Amino acid sequence: MFITLEGIEGAGKTTQVGGMVEFLTEKGHDCLITREPGGTEIGKRIRSILLDPKNIDLDPFAELLLYNADRAQHLKTLIEPALKAGKTVICDRYFDATVVYQGYARGLDIEKIYRLHKLICNNLMPEITFLLDLPVKTGIKRAWQQIDNGARTKLETRFEEEELNFHEKVRAGYLALAKKESKRFIIIDATLDKAKVAEKIFKRLATIDLQIIK
Ligand code: TMP
Repeated sequence: MFITLEGIEGAGKTTQVGGMVEFLTEKGHDCLITREPGGTEIGKRIRSILLDPKNIDLDPFAELLLYNADRAQHLKTLIEPALKAGKTVICDRYFDATVVYQGYARGLDIEKIYRLHKLICNNLMPEITFLLDLPVKTGIKRAWQQIDNGARTKLETRFEEEELNFHEKVRAGYLALAKKESKRFIIIDATLDKAKVAEKIFKRLATIDLQIIK
């Protein structure tokens, strides 16, 4: 099973991954936790280019291709082998982030983004996507608090430094995708405290689990 988490900056995805793994492991899943960009050693180097705030002049199309390069490496060396081995892969961001950040927010042609995904990743999509949704101002404030208190590195703030309008487009893009693919997406209110968010995720995971066993 392939599960992804998505959301704007400061949505709390990374915090929730640990709890999800514990929950699923208890239910008998053999889990692989990973993330994009940067799920592999080569991916980490691509990540540092993509998120470095000094790279303000990174061309949007070059940015799109770097996310795809990271994903190609990630799929071939980590995700596909894990899925083949019967593992449950939990990935912090995946292709939806490309559609939303490079498509909806940067303004690149969304059709081209889907075509690239077919070409490079054979259209591999997750079975379940949790969208942690919250107002942009709340998310960005949280993200900067984490950066300022050292919980997150200052070397990866290229997207946090985008204007609020960019992040509004990201949020609207995610909500539009969730509406279009309502069977795959589960929207969680990320304004709630961490424990409540986890509880909501576990509740949904429990029902999905049962469906899979049937
Ligand atoms: P994160 O690891 O803190 O979630 O940061 C990754 C950043 O990269 C985040 O701002 C979203 C962005 N991103 C894209 O723009 N396109 C993508 O395809 C992915 C996976 C992430």
